[in-house]
Amino acid sequence: MRRNLASYGDPGFSLFLRKAFIKAAGYSDDALDRPIIGITNTFSDFNPCHGNVPRLIEAVKRGVMLAGGLPMEFPTVSIHESFSNPTSMFLRNLMAMDTEEMIRAQPMDAVVLIGGCDKTVPAQLMGAVSANVPAIQLITGPMLVGHHKGEILGACTDCRRLWGQHRAGHLDAEEMDVLSGRLAPTQGTCMVMGTASTMGCLVEALGIALPWTGTIPATHADRIRAAEASGRQAVQLATHGPTPRDLLTPAAFRNALTVLQAIGGSTNGLVHLAAIARRAGLSVDLDAFDAIGRSVPVLIDLKPSGDHYMEHFHWAGGVPKLMKELGDHLDRSAPTIDGRTIGEIADAAEEVPGQAIIRPASAPLKPFGGMAVLRGNLAPGGAVIKHSAASEALLRHTGRAVVFDSVEDMVNRIDDPGLDVQADDVLVLRNAGPKGAPGMPEAGYLPIPKKLAQAGVKDMVRISDARMSGTAFGTIVLHITPEAAVGGPLGLVRSGDTIRLDVAAREIALLVPDEELERRRAEWTPPAHLAEAARGYQHLYLTHVLQADEGCDFDFC
Ligand code: FES
Ligand code: MG
Repeated sequence: MRRNLASYGDPGFSLFLRKAFIKAAGYSDDALDRPIIGITNTFSDFNPCHGNVPRLIEAVKRGVMLAGGLPMEFPTVSIHESFSNPTSMFLRNLMAMDTEEMIRAQPMDAVVLIGGCDKTVPAQLMGAVSANVPAIQLITGPMLVGHHKGEILGACTDCRRLWGQHRAGHLDAEEMDVLSGRLAPTQGTCMVMGTASTMGCLVEALGIALPWTGTIPATHADRIRAAEASGRQAVQLATHGPTPRDLLTPAAFRNALTVLQAIGGSTNGLVHLAAIARRAGLSVDLDAFDAIGRSVPVLIDLKPSGDHYMEHFHWAGGVPKLMKELGDHLDRSAPTIDGRTIGEIADAAEEVPGQAIIRPASAPLKPFGGMAVLRGNLAPGGAVIKHSAASEALLRHTGRAVVFDSVEDMVNRIDDPGLDVQADDVLVLRNAGPKGAPGMPEAGYLPIPKKLAQAGVKDMVRISDARMSGTAFGTIVLHITPEAAVGGPLGLVRSGDTIRLDVAAREIALLVPDEELERRRAEWTPPAHLAEAARGYQHLYLTHVLQADEGCDFDFC
Protein backbone atom coordinates (compact mmCIF):
# COMPACT_ATOMS: atom_id res chain seq x y z
CA MET A 1 0.00 0.00 0.00
CA ARG A 2 1.75 3.05 -1.23
CA ARG A 3 0.84 6.60 -2.00
CA ASN A 4 -0.63 9.28 0.20
CA LEU A 5 -1.00 7.24 3.32
CA ALA A 6 -0.28 9.85 5.96
CA SER A 7 -3.50 11.80 5.83
CA TYR A 8 -4.49 10.98 9.40
CA GLY A 9 -1.23 12.31 10.77
CA ASP A 10 -0.04 8.94 12.06
CA PRO A 11 1.10 6.97 8.98
CA GLY A 12 0.75 3.63 10.74
CA PHE A 13 -2.81 4.41 11.78
CA SER A 14 -3.65 5.71 8.29
CA LEU A 15 -2.53 2.44 6.72
CA PHE A 16 -4.37 0.40 9.35
CA LEU A 17 -7.58 2.35 8.76
CA ARG A 18 -7.38 2.08 5.00
CA LYS A 19 -6.75 -1.63 5.21
CA ALA A 20 -9.71 -2.05 7.54
CA PHE A 21 -12.04 -0.24 5.17
CA ILE A 22 -10.85 -1.85 1.95
CA LYS A 23 -11.16 -5.26 3.61
CA ALA A 24 -14.86 -4.52 3.86
CA ALA A 25 -14.86 -5.28 0.14
CA GLY A 26 -13.34 -8.71 0.78
CA TYR A 27 -9.74 -8.14 -0.28
CA SER A 28 -7.03 -10.36 1.26
CA ASP A 29 -3.67 -9.15 2.55
CA ASP A 30 -2.07 -10.95 -0.39
CA ALA A 31 -4.19 -8.97 -2.86
CA LEU A 32 -3.50 -5.68 -1.15
CA ASP A 33 0.24 -6.20 -1.01
CA ARG A 34 0.70 -5.77 -4.76
CA PRO A 35 1.14 -2.88 -7.18
CA ILE A 36 -2.23 -1.13 -7.26
CA ILE A 37 -3.44 -0.15 -10.72
CA GLY A 38 -6.24 2.39 -10.94
CA ILE A 39 -8.60 2.11 -13.91
CA THR A 40 -10.83 5.04 -14.79
CA ASN A 41 -14.43 4.05 -15.41
CA THR A 42 -16.03 6.49 -17.83
CA PHE A 43 -18.97 4.28 -18.71
CA SER A 44 -22.20 6.26 -18.90
CA ASP A 45 -25.56 5.58 -20.49
CA PHE A 46 -25.16 9.06 -21.96
CA ASN A 47 -21.92 8.07 -23.69
CA PRO A 48 -22.31 5.43 -26.44
CA CYS A 49 -18.74 6.18 -27.56
CA HIS A 50 -17.76 4.50 -24.28
CA GLY A 51 -20.29 1.67 -24.53
CA ASN A 52 -17.53 -0.95 -24.57
CA VAL A 53 -15.84 0.39 -21.43
CA PRO A 54 -17.16 -2.40 -19.13
CA ARG A 55 -15.59 -5.07 -21.35
CA LEU A 56 -12.38 -3.11 -21.62
CA ILE A 57 -12.18 -2.74 -17.84
CA GLU A 58 -12.69 -6.48 -17.44
CA ALA A 59 -9.79 -7.13 -19.83
CA VAL A 60 -7.55 -4.50 -18.22
CA LYS A 61 -8.18 -6.17 -14.86
CA ARG A 62 -7.24 -9.54 -16.33
CA GLY A 63 -4.02 -8.07 -17.67
CA VAL A 64 -3.20 -6.42 -14.34
CA MET A 65 -3.78 -9.65 -12.43
CA LEU A 66 -1.85 -11.79 -14.92
CA ALA A 67 1.08 -9.46 -14.30
CA GLY A 68 0.71 -9.67 -10.52
CA GLY A 69 -1.02 -6.38 -9.76
CA LEU A 70 -4.29 -5.45 -8.10
CA PRO A 71 -6.75 -3.58 -10.33
CA MET A 72 -9.02 -0.96 -8.75
CA GLU A 73 -11.57 0.73 -10.97
CA PHE A 74 -12.97 4.12 -10.05
CA PRO A 75 -15.49 6.46 -11.68
CA THR A 76 -14.79 9.85 -13.19
CA VAL A 77 -16.79 12.33 -15.21
CA SER A 78 -17.70 11.07 -18.68
CA ILE A 79 -18.37 13.43 -21.59
CA HIS A 80 -20.14 12.70 -24.86
CA GLU A 81 -20.11 15.31 -27.60
CA SER A 82 -23.83 15.26 -28.23
CA PHE A 83 -25.05 15.24 -24.65
CA SER A 84 -23.01 17.99 -23.03
CA ASN A 85 -24.71 21.30 -22.48
CA PRO A 86 -23.59 24.02 -23.14
CA THR A 87 -20.62 22.27 -24.78
CA SER A 88 -18.28 19.36 -24.18
CA MET A 89 -15.37 21.82 -24.22
CA PHE A 90 -16.94 23.66 -21.30
CA LEU A 91 -16.78 20.39 -19.34
CA ARG A 92 -13.37 19.15 -20.49
CA ASN A 93 -11.51 21.03 -17.76
CA LEU A 94 -13.94 19.72 -15.14
CA MET A 95 -13.15 16.18 -16.23
CA ALA A 96 -9.44 17.00 -16.20
CA MET A 97 -9.67 18.28 -12.64
CA ASP A 98 -11.76 15.29 -11.55
CA THR A 99 -9.32 12.84 -13.16
CA GLU A 100 -6.28 14.60 -11.69
CA GLU A 101 -7.64 14.78 -8.17
CA MET A 102 -8.96 11.21 -8.14
CA ILE A 103 -5.59 9.89 -9.32
CA ARG A 104 -3.83 12.02 -6.75
CA ALA A 105 -6.22 11.32 -3.89
CA GLN A 106 -6.51 7.55 -4.11
CA PRO A 107 -3.64 5.17 -3.44
CA MET A 108 -2.59 3.87 -6.85
CA ASP A 109 0.84 3.10 -8.29
CA ALA A 110 -0.20 3.49 -11.91
CA VAL A 111 -3.40 4.24 -13.77
CA VAL A 112 -5.05 3.04 -16.96
CA LEU A 113 -7.02 5.87 -18.56
CA ILE A 114 -9.85 4.56 -20.71
CA GLY A 115 -11.23 7.29 -22.94
CA GLY A 116 -12.43 7.85 -26.46
CA CYS A 117 -15.08 10.46 -27.12
CA ASP A 118 -13.50 13.76 -28.17
CA LYS A 119 -12.89 15.59 -24.90
CA THR A 120 -12.25 12.57 -22.68
CA VAL A 121 -8.74 11.66 -23.80
CA PRO A 122 -7.43 15.24 -23.58
CA ALA A 123 -9.07 15.64 -20.17
CA GLN A 124 -7.53 12.41 -18.92
CA LEU A 125 -4.06 13.31 -20.20
CA MET A 126 -4.27 16.83 -18.76
CA GLY A 127 -5.17 15.34 -15.39
CA ALA A 128 -2.60 12.56 -15.57
CA VAL A 129 0.23 14.93 -16.48
CA SER A 130 -0.60 17.13 -13.51
CA ALA A 131 -0.92 14.17 -11.11
CA ASN A 132 2.19 12.63 -12.71
CA VAL A 133 1.45 9.10 -11.55
CA PRO A 134 2.55 6.54 -14.18
CA ALA A 135 -0.31 6.38 -16.69
CA ILE A 136 -1.20 4.55 -19.86
CA GLN A 137 -3.94 5.62 -22.26
CA LEU A 138 -6.35 3.06 -23.62
CA ILE A 139 -8.67 4.25 -26.39
CA THR A 140 -12.23 2.89 -26.63
CA GLY A 141 -11.76 2.71 -30.41
CA PRO A 142 -13.61 3.82 -33.52
CA MET A 143 -17.02 2.54 -34.67
CA LEU A 144 -17.35 0.37 -37.73
CA VAL A 145 -18.68 2.13 -40.83
CA GLY A 146 -22.38 2.41 -41.64
CA HIS A 147 -24.17 1.33 -44.82
CA HIS A 148 -27.17 2.80 -46.62
CA LYS A 149 -28.41 1.90 -50.10
CA GLY A 150 -24.98 0.68 -51.15
CA GLU A 151 -23.22 3.74 -49.79
CA ILE A 152 -20.73 3.72 -46.90
CA LEU A 153 -21.52 6.23 -44.17
CA GLY A 154 -19.35 7.77 -41.48
CA ALA A 155 -20.22 9.66 -38.30
CA CYS A 156 -20.28 12.42 -38.47
CA THR A 157 -18.92 13.75 -41.74
CA ASP A 158 -21.90 12.19 -43.47
CA CYS A 159 -24.28 13.40 -40.73
CA ARG A 160 -23.43 16.93 -41.89
CA ARG A 161 -23.47 16.13 -45.58
CA LEU A 162 -26.84 14.38 -45.37
CA TRP A 163 -28.31 17.12 -43.19
CA GLY A 164 -27.16 19.59 -45.84
CA GLN A 165 -29.02 17.54 -48.47
CA HIS A 166 -32.10 17.47 -46.24
CA ARG A 167 -31.93 21.26 -45.82
CA ALA A 168 -31.65 21.64 -49.56
CA GLY A 169 -34.81 19.52 -49.94
CA HIS A 170 -33.17 16.39 -51.46
CA LEU A 171 -33.85 13.97 -48.55
CA ASP A 172 -37.21 13.68 -46.79
CA ALA A 173 -37.83 13.26 -43.06
CA GLU A 174 -38.64 9.57 -43.42
CA GLU A 175 -35.30 8.76 -45.01
CA MET A 176 -33.53 10.90 -42.39
CA ASP A 177 -35.10 8.69 -39.70
CA VAL A 178 -33.72 5.58 -41.38
CA LEU A 179 -30.32 7.28 -41.75
CA SER A 180 -30.19 8.18 -38.06
CA GLY A 181 -29.97 4.44 -37.35
CA ARG A 182 -27.16 3.88 -39.84
CA LEU A 183 -24.68 6.70 -39.34
CA ALA A 184 -23.32 5.48 -36.00
CA PRO A 185 -23.91 1.74 -36.25
CA THR A 186 -21.78 0.42 -33.36
CA GLN A 187 -20.38 1.44 -30.02
CA GLY A 188 -17.15 3.40 -30.20
CA THR A 189 -16.06 6.79 -31.43
CA CYS A 190 -16.70 8.58 -34.73
CA MET A 191 -14.81 6.63 -37.39
CA VAL A 192 -13.71 9.46 -39.66
CA MET A 193 -10.60 11.51 -38.84
CA GLY A 194 -12.50 13.63 -36.32
CA THR A 195 -11.26 14.63 -32.91
CA ALA A 196 -11.61 11.21 -31.27
CA SER A 197 -9.69 9.47 -34.06
CA THR A 198 -7.16 12.29 -34.04
CA MET A 199 -6.55 11.84 -30.32
CA GLY A 200 -6.28 8.06 -30.85
CA CYS A 201 -3.42 8.71 -33.28
CA LEU A 202 -1.82 11.39 -31.12
CA VAL A 203 -1.57 9.21 -28.01
CA GLU A 204 0.48 6.74 -30.02
CA ALA A 205 2.66 9.56 -31.37
CA LEU A 206 3.11 10.91 -27.84
CA GLY A 207 4.18 7.42 -26.77
CA ILE A 208 1.63 7.17 -23.95
CA ALA A 209 -0.45 4.36 -25.46
CA LEU A 210 0.71 0.98 -26.71
CA PRO A 211 1.50 1.02 -30.44
CA TRP A 212 -1.30 0.14 -32.85
CA THR A 213 -3.93 0.51 -30.10
CA GLY A 214 -5.16 3.96 -31.12
CA THR A 215 -7.02 2.73 -34.19
CA ILE A 216 -8.40 -0.78 -33.44
CA PRO A 217 -12.19 -0.76 -33.96
CA ALA A 218 -14.15 -0.57 -30.71
CA THR A 219 -15.97 -3.83 -31.34
CA HIS A 220 -13.00 -5.95 -32.42
CA ALA A 221 -11.41 -8.71 -30.32
CA ASP A 222 -8.03 -7.00 -30.78
CA ARG A 223 -9.44 -4.07 -28.80
CA ILE A 224 -10.05 -6.41 -25.86
CA ARG A 225 -6.54 -7.82 -26.20
CA ALA A 226 -5.17 -4.26 -26.29
CA ALA A 227 -6.94 -3.65 -22.99
CA GLU A 228 -5.39 -6.76 -21.46
CA ALA A 229 -1.96 -5.72 -22.72
CA SER A 230 -2.43 -2.19 -21.35
CA GLY A 231 -3.26 -3.66 -17.94
CA ARG A 232 -0.14 -5.78 -18.01
CA GLN A 233 1.95 -2.79 -19.06
CA ALA A 234 0.52 -0.69 -16.24
CA VAL A 235 2.00 -3.13 -13.70
CA GLN A 236 5.40 -2.58 -15.32
CA LEU A 237 4.88 1.18 -15.11
CA ALA A 238 3.96 0.94 -11.45
CA THR A 239 7.41 -0.32 -10.58
CA HIS A 240 9.62 1.11 -13.32
CA GLY A 241 7.83 4.18 -14.73
CA PRO A 242 7.99 6.29 -16.83
CA THR A 243 5.66 8.96 -15.51
CA PRO A 244 3.66 11.11 -17.95
CA ARG A 245 6.12 13.97 -17.59
CA ASP A 246 9.05 11.64 -18.38
CA LEU A 247 7.32 10.80 -21.64
CA LEU A 248 5.71 14.06 -22.66
CA THR A 249 8.81 16.01 -23.60
CA PRO A 250 9.20 18.67 -26.32
CA ALA A 251 10.21 15.85 -28.70
CA ALA A 252 6.99 13.96 -27.97
CA PHE A 253 4.86 17.04 -28.65
CA ARG A 254 6.74 17.78 -31.84
CA ASN A 255 6.09 14.22 -32.97
CA ALA A 256 2.41 14.61 -32.10
CA LEU A 257 2.16 17.91 -34.03
CA THR A 258 3.85 16.25 -37.01
CA VAL A 259 1.40 13.34 -36.94
CA LEU A 260 -1.47 15.83 -36.54
CA GLN A 261 -0.45 17.47 -39.82
CA ALA A 262 0.11 14.14 -41.58
CA ILE A 263 -3.28 12.66 -40.69
CA GLY A 264 -5.23 15.80 -41.68
CA GLY A 265 -6.36 15.71 -38.07
CA SER A 266 -8.97 17.68 -36.21
CA THR A 267 -8.37 21.34 -35.43
CA ASN A 268 -9.46 20.47 -31.90
CA GLY A 269 -6.36 18.30 -31.61
CA LEU A 270 -4.26 21.45 -31.69
CA VAL A 271 -6.17 23.03 -28.79
CA HIS A 272 -5.91 19.82 -26.77
CA LEU A 273 -2.18 19.38 -27.40
CA ALA A 274 -1.65 22.97 -26.26
CA ALA A 275 -3.55 22.22 -23.05
CA ILE A 276 -1.70 18.94 -22.36
CA ALA A 277 1.66 20.60 -23.08
CA ARG A 278 0.84 23.42 -20.72
CA ARG A 279 0.23 20.88 -17.95
CA ALA A 280 3.75 19.57 -18.58
CA GLY A 281 5.17 23.10 -18.31
CA LEU A 282 5.62 23.32 -22.09
CA SER A 283 3.85 25.21 -24.85
CA VAL A 284 2.77 24.57 -28.41
CA ASP A 285 4.28 27.14 -30.75
CA LEU A 286 1.64 27.83 -33.42
CA ASP A 287 4.19 29.13 -35.90
CA ALA A 288 6.35 26.04 -35.46
CA PHE A 289 3.22 23.95 -36.04
CA ASP A 290 2.53 25.89 -39.22
CA ALA A 291 6.13 25.35 -40.34
CA ILE A 292 5.74 21.58 -39.79
CA GLY A 293 2.68 21.70 -42.05
CA ARG A 294 4.70 23.24 -44.87
CA SER A 295 7.06 20.27 -44.97
CA VAL A 296 4.89 17.38 -43.77
CA PRO A 297 2.18 16.33 -46.26
CA VAL A 298 -1.14 14.65 -45.49
CA LEU A 299 -0.43 10.94 -45.95
CA ILE A 300 -3.69 9.40 -44.78
CA ASP A 301 -6.64 9.05 -47.14
CA LEU A 302 -9.44 9.40 -44.56
CA LYS A 303 -12.58 11.48 -44.41
CA PRO A 304 -13.09 14.39 -44.18
CA SER A 305 -9.84 15.19 -46.09
CA GLY A 306 -9.99 11.96 -48.14
CA ASP A 307 -12.21 8.94 -48.72
CA HIS A 308 -11.76 6.18 -46.14
CA TYR A 309 -12.44 5.38 -42.46
CA MET A 310 -10.55 4.41 -39.33
CA GLU A 311 -10.96 0.65 -39.69
CA HIS A 312 -9.32 0.90 -43.14
CA PHE A 313 -6.47 2.97 -41.70
CA HIS A 314 -6.01 0.41 -38.95
CA TRP A 315 -5.80 -2.56 -41.28
CA ALA A 316 -3.45 -0.64 -43.57
CA GLY A 317 -0.92 -0.52 -40.74
CA GLY A 318 -2.19 2.24 -38.47
CA VAL A 319 -0.03 4.82 -36.74
CA PRO A 320 3.21 2.75 -36.74
CA LYS A 321 3.07 2.47 -40.54
CA LEU A 322 2.30 6.18 -40.84
CA MET A 323 5.26 6.95 -38.58
CA LYS A 324 7.43 4.77 -40.79
CA GLU A 325 6.44 6.86 -43.82
CA LEU A 326 7.17 10.04 -41.86
CA GLY A 327 10.75 8.86 -41.34
CA ASP A 328 13.03 11.65 -40.19
CA HIS A 329 10.18 14.14 -39.85
CA LEU A 330 9.79 12.47 -36.45
CA ASP A 331 12.19 12.41 -33.53
CA ARG A 332 12.82 8.68 -33.70
CA SER A 333 14.62 8.61 -30.37
CA ALA A 334 11.53 9.67 -28.37
CA PRO A 335 10.67 7.04 -25.73
CA THR A 336 7.30 5.31 -25.47
CA ILE A 337 5.34 3.52 -22.81
CA ASP A 338 6.25 0.03 -24.07
CA GLY A 339 9.97 0.62 -23.72
CA ARG A 340 10.75 1.00 -27.39
CA THR A 341 11.48 4.30 -29.11
CA ILE A 342 9.18 5.84 -31.71
CA GLY A 343 11.76 4.87 -34.35
CA GLU A 344 11.80 1.22 -33.25
CA ILE A 345 8.00 1.10 -33.38
CA ALA A 346 7.99 2.64 -36.85
CA ASP A 347 10.61 0.15 -38.06
CA ALA A 348 8.47 -2.75 -36.82
CA ALA A 349 5.34 -1.56 -38.67
CA GLU A 350 3.36 -4.20 -40.52
CA GLU A 351 3.58 -4.00 -44.31
CA VAL A 352 0.23 -4.43 -46.00
CA PRO A 353 0.63 -5.17 -49.71
CA GLY A 354 -1.64 -3.13 -51.95
CA GLN A 355 -3.01 -0.83 -49.28
CA ALA A 356 -3.65 2.69 -50.53
CA ILE A 357 -4.79 4.39 -47.32
CA ILE A 358 -1.37 5.28 -45.92
CA ARG A 359 0.49 7.00 -48.71
CA PRO A 360 4.25 7.13 -49.14
CA ALA A 361 5.78 10.59 -48.80
CA SER A 362 6.45 10.44 -52.56
CA ALA A 363 2.70 10.27 -53.34
CA PRO A 364 0.87 12.17 -50.59
CA LEU A 365 -2.86 12.83 -50.41
CA LYS A 366 -2.12 16.58 -50.15
CA PRO A 367 1.26 18.18 -50.80
CA PHE A 368 1.03 20.04 -47.49
CA GLY A 369 -0.05 19.30 -43.92
CA GLY A 370 -3.64 19.37 -42.77
CA MET A 371 -3.68 22.74 -41.03
CA ALA A 372 -2.34 26.24 -41.45
CA VAL A 373 -2.03 28.97 -38.84
CA LEU A 374 -3.28 32.35 -40.00
CA ARG A 375 -2.51 35.78 -38.63
CA GLY A 376 -3.46 39.33 -39.50
CA ASN A 377 -5.33 42.25 -38.01
CA LEU A 378 -8.36 40.00 -37.44
CA ALA A 379 -6.38 37.38 -35.52
CA PRO A 380 -3.34 38.85 -33.78
CA GLY A 381 -3.14 35.74 -31.55
CA GLY A 382 -3.62 33.38 -34.49
CA ALA A 383 -6.39 31.40 -36.15
CA VAL A 384 -6.41 28.01 -37.78
CA ILE A 385 -7.78 26.54 -41.00
CA LYS A 386 -7.89 22.89 -41.97
CA HIS A 387 -7.00 23.57 -45.58
CA SER A 388 -6.77 19.87 -46.40
CA ALA A 389 -10.57 19.76 -46.00
CA ALA A 390 -11.35 23.07 -47.72
CA SER A 391 -12.26 24.13 -51.26
CA GLU A 392 -9.14 24.90 -53.25
CA ALA A 393 -10.85 27.80 -55.05
CA LEU A 394 -11.68 29.61 -51.81
CA LEU A 395 -8.26 29.44 -50.17
CA ARG A 396 -7.56 32.87 -51.61
CA HIS A 397 -10.72 34.91 -51.42
CA THR A 398 -11.84 38.45 -50.73
CA GLY A 399 -15.47 39.03 -49.89
CA ARG A 400 -18.08 41.06 -48.12
CA ALA A 401 -18.68 40.24 -44.45
CA VAL A 402 -22.08 38.98 -43.30
CA VAL A 403 -21.88 39.16 -39.51
CA PHE A 404 -23.70 37.08 -36.91
CA ASP A 405 -23.26 38.43 -33.41
CA SER A 406 -23.77 35.13 -31.59
CA VAL A 407 -24.70 31.51 -32.22
CA GLU A 408 -28.31 32.41 -31.43
CA ASP A 409 -28.28 35.32 -33.89
CA MET A 410 -26.89 32.98 -36.54
CA VAL A 411 -29.57 30.35 -35.88
CA ASN A 412 -32.30 32.98 -36.03
CA ARG A 413 -31.26 34.64 -39.27
CA ILE A 414 -29.20 32.30 -41.45
CA ASP A 415 -32.20 30.79 -43.23
CA ASP A 416 -34.16 34.04 -43.46
CA PRO A 417 -35.06 34.42 -47.15
CA GLY A 418 -34.56 38.16 -46.68
CA LEU A 419 -30.94 37.78 -45.46
CA ASP A 420 -28.62 39.87 -47.62
CA VAL A 421 -26.08 37.20 -48.54
CA GLN A 422 -24.39 35.94 -51.70
CA ALA A 423 -22.20 32.95 -52.45
CA ASP A 424 -18.97 34.96 -52.48
CA ASP A 425 -19.61 36.67 -49.14
CA VAL A 426 -17.67 35.77 -45.99
CA LEU A 427 -19.87 34.49 -43.15
CA VAL A 428 -18.66 35.80 -39.79
CA LEU A 429 -19.69 34.31 -36.43
CA ARG A 430 -18.46 35.85 -33.19
CA ASN A 431 -18.97 35.61 -29.43
CA ALA A 432 -18.60 31.85 -29.86
CA GLY A 433 -15.14 31.51 -28.30
CA PRO A 434 -14.06 30.06 -24.93
CA LYS A 435 -15.76 32.82 -22.92
CA GLY A 436 -18.17 34.11 -25.51
CA ALA A 437 -20.66 31.30 -25.94
CA PRO A 438 -19.38 30.14 -23.36
CA GLY A 439 -17.52 26.91 -23.96
CA MET A 440 -16.31 27.47 -27.53
CA PRO A 441 -18.99 25.44 -29.30
CA GLU A 442 -18.38 23.62 -32.57
CA ALA A 443 -20.44 26.29 -34.29
CA GLY A 444 -17.60 27.33 -36.62
CA TYR A 445 -19.12 25.13 -39.29
CA LEU A 446 -21.79 27.69 -40.14
CA PRO A 447 -24.45 26.17 -42.36
CA ILE A 448 -24.71 27.51 -45.88
CA PRO A 449 -27.73 29.89 -45.82
CA LYS A 450 -30.74 27.88 -46.99
CA LYS A 451 -31.47 29.93 -50.07
CA LEU A 452 -27.87 29.52 -51.24
CA ALA A 453 -27.82 25.81 -50.37
CA GLN A 454 -30.96 25.31 -52.41
CA ALA A 455 -29.26 27.11 -55.29
CA GLY A 456 -26.44 24.56 -55.11
CA VAL A 457 -23.80 26.44 -53.10
CA LYS A 458 -21.67 23.84 -51.27
CA ASP A 459 -18.98 25.90 -49.59
CA MET A 460 -18.33 29.48 -48.54
CA VAL A 461 -15.58 31.17 -46.54
CA ARG A 462 -16.70 31.11 -42.92
CA ILE A 463 -14.73 32.63 -40.05
CA SER A 464 -15.27 32.60 -36.29
CA ASP A 465 -13.79 32.39 -32.82
CA ALA A 466 -15.57 29.03 -32.41
CA ARG A 467 -14.30 25.51 -32.91
CA MET A 468 -15.45 23.02 -35.52
CA SER A 469 -16.01 19.30 -35.44
CA GLY A 470 -13.00 17.45 -36.80
CA THR A 471 -15.43 15.60 -39.02
CA ALA A 472 -16.49 18.68 -41.00
CA PHE A 473 -15.48 19.85 -44.49
CA GLY A 474 -15.32 23.44 -45.72
CA THR A 475 -13.26 26.63 -46.09
CA ILE A 476 -13.53 27.51 -42.46
CA VAL A 477 -11.29 29.72 -40.33
CA LEU A 478 -11.51 28.85 -36.61
CA HIS A 479 -10.21 29.75 -33.16
CA ILE A 480 -9.73 33.43 -34.04
CA THR A 481 -7.71 34.73 -31.09
CA PRO A 482 -8.32 36.80 -29.06
CA GLU A 483 -12.02 35.99 -29.22
CA ALA A 484 -14.60 38.74 -29.71
CA ALA A 485 -15.99 38.44 -26.17
CA VAL A 486 -12.69 39.56 -24.62
CA GLY A 487 -12.27 42.47 -27.01
CA GLY A 488 -10.65 40.76 -29.99
CA PRO A 489 -10.86 42.57 -33.35
CA LEU A 490 -13.43 40.05 -34.61
CA GLY A 491 -15.89 41.98 -32.44
CA LEU A 492 -15.34 45.10 -34.55
CA VAL A 493 -16.38 43.65 -37.92
CA ARG A 494 -19.58 44.99 -39.47
CA SER A 495 -21.67 43.50 -42.24
CA GLY A 496 -20.51 44.98 -45.51
CA ASP A 497 -16.82 45.23 -44.50
CA THR A 498 -14.31 43.50 -46.73
CA ILE A 499 -12.40 40.46 -45.45
CA ARG A 500 -9.42 38.86 -47.17
CA LEU A 501 -8.39 35.25 -46.68
CA ASP A 502 -5.07 34.23 -48.19
CA VAL A 503 -4.01 30.84 -46.91
CA ALA A 504 -0.79 30.73 -48.94
CA ALA A 505 0.22 34.02 -47.27
CA ARG A 506 -1.20 32.74 -43.94
CA GLU A 507 -3.33 35.88 -43.67
CA ILE A 508 -6.81 36.72 -42.43
CA ALA A 509 -7.39 40.46 -42.73
CA LEU A 510 -10.16 42.96 -42.22
CA LEU A 511 -9.76 45.67 -44.85
CA VAL A 512 -10.93 48.56 -42.71
CA PRO A 513 -8.67 51.51 -41.80
CA ASP A 514 -7.15 51.46 -38.32
CA GLU A 515 -8.75 54.79 -37.33
CA GLU A 516 -12.19 53.40 -38.11
CA LEU A 517 -11.43 50.26 -36.05
CA GLU A 518 -10.33 52.44 -33.14
CA ARG A 519 -13.57 54.40 -33.38
CA ARG A 520 -15.55 51.14 -33.27
CA ARG A 521 -13.46 49.84 -30.38
CA ALA A 522 -14.50 52.82 -28.27
CA GLU A 523 -18.13 51.82 -28.78
CA TRP A 524 -17.63 48.10 -28.11
CA THR A 525 -19.19 46.44 -25.04
CA PRO A 526 -18.68 42.86 -23.85
CA PRO A 527 -21.55 40.36 -24.19
CA ALA A 528 -24.13 40.57 -21.41
CA HIS A 529 -23.47 37.15 -19.86
CA LEU A 530 -19.93 38.21 -18.97
CA ALA A 531 -21.22 41.17 -17.01
CA GLU A 532 -23.62 39.04 -14.94
CA ALA A 533 -22.41 37.12 -11.91
CA ALA A 534 -22.15 33.42 -12.74
CA ARG A 535 -22.17 30.80 -10.02
CA GLY A 536 -20.71 27.35 -9.51
CA TYR A 537 -18.54 25.76 -12.16
CA GLN A 538 -19.58 28.38 -14.72
CA HIS A 539 -18.12 31.06 -12.48
CA LEU A 540 -14.84 29.14 -12.26
CA TYR A 541 -14.85 28.62 -16.02
CA LEU A 542 -15.61 32.20 -17.03
CA THR A 543 -13.10 33.61 -14.57
CA HIS A 544 -10.20 31.36 -15.48
CA VAL A 545 -10.48 29.91 -18.98
CA LEU A 546 -7.61 30.77 -21.33
CA GLN A 547 -7.77 31.45 -25.05
CA ALA A 548 -7.47 28.76 -27.74
CA ASP A 549 -3.75 29.30 -28.35
CA GLU A 550 -3.15 28.24 -24.74
CA GLY A 551 -5.47 25.26 -25.01
CA CYS A 552 -8.52 26.72 -23.23
CA ASP A 553 -7.24 25.33 -19.93
CA PHE A 554 -7.74 27.21 -16.69
CA ASP A 555 -5.06 29.76 -15.90
CA PHE A 556 -4.39 28.17 -12.49
CA CYS A 557 -3.89 24.63 -13.83
FE1 FES B 1 -18.04 10.57 -29.43
FE2 FES B 1 -17.87 11.47 -32.07
S1 FES B 1 -19.48 11.68 -30.62
S2 FES B 1 -16.41 10.49 -30.83
MG1 MG C 1 -16.27 15.53 -32.77
